[in-house]
Amino acid sequence: MRLKDIQDIYHKELDVIYGKNEVDAFFNLVIGHYLKLDRVHLLMEPDYSITKIEEQPLFETLSQLKLEKPIQYILGETEFFGLLFKVNEYTLIPRPETEELVALILEDFKGQSCKILDIGTGTGCIAISLAKHIEHASVSAVDISEDAIIIAKQNAEINTVDVNFITDDILNPRYVKPVSGSHDYDVIVSNPPYVRHLEKIEIKPNVLDHEPHLALFVDDKNPLQFYKAICEFSQTHLKDNGVLYFEINEYLGEEMIELLTDFNFKHIELKKDLSGKDRIIKGVKKG
Ligand SMILES: C[S@@+](CC[C@H](N)C(=O)[O-])C[C@H]1O[C@@H](n2cnc3c(N)ncnc32)[C@H](O)[C@@H]1O
Repeated sequence: MRLKDIQDIYHKELDVIYGKNEVDAFFNLVIGHYLKLDRVHLLMEPDYSITKIEEQPLFETLSQLKLEKPIQYILGETEFFGLLFKVNEYTLIPRPETEELVALILEDFKGQSCKILDIGTGTGCIAISLAKHIEHASVSAVDISEDAIIIAKQNAEINTVDVNFITDDILNPRYVKPVSGSHDYDVIVSNPPYVRHLEKIEIKPNVLDHEPHLALFVDDKNPLQFYKAICEFSQTHLKDNGVLYFEINEYLGEEMIELLTDFNFKHIELKKDLSGKDRIIKGVKKG
């Protein structure tokens, strides 16, 4: 069958759900993944045809897209900060906002020798990107999900970096310890669960039905639970003048400033993401 005809079927079946541009983007990802072809190939050779066996994964992917399964889970991979990451149902799909968090830490620490801890690592996207770009960093990462840690370890291997992965509950930490004594880390970073159940109404079905709720949701009555626990943890594990970085719920910027102030952090900065939403906060631990 001509590849162009399969593309037309994608549009016919999926445009109504996703819109034409997104379907084009999906199709390009799919032919790149399964056929190692790019968009230009389709333009240059409109009559390019593929075999029945080659067609099969393209039609299987189409069926899953119709069920609104995220393309990243279907293909089992995604790109983050220019690196390839495996993803599965136990890991959140890394988001572009989180790339902005990584970029901010790189701005502050690139070229330095430092010890970093990433809390709630998921795919390992933050920890691995930092380890890749900060040559002399020693990076540890923790997650409560053993299944996520398995994927994160594979991602560290794919991206040829060393990260010390630890399975632990940051609300009741037992195993995550500094490498040498206390007050050890120069950087603690976290993108913890922060979506309140009351915000579920704003979440699209492809996220709600497929991404792990353990990675997303917090109690409506205690939405800063993870941030409080990590601020507390930082009191004993972050060096004086070490920096704490968080990705945050866009609606809770003011509460986060208050929290970091209560925990005695200085030079607190609340930053907006590229869509203009309060998304990142950093603070320096007082010496
Ligand atoms: C919002 S996701 C962030 C994943 C990844 N860091 C990213 O930015 O894409 C939050 C992560 O925190 C983990 N998590 C949830 N509860 C936790 C706990 N009590 N202790 C440690 N990690 C936890 C989840 O398994 C999930 O991987």
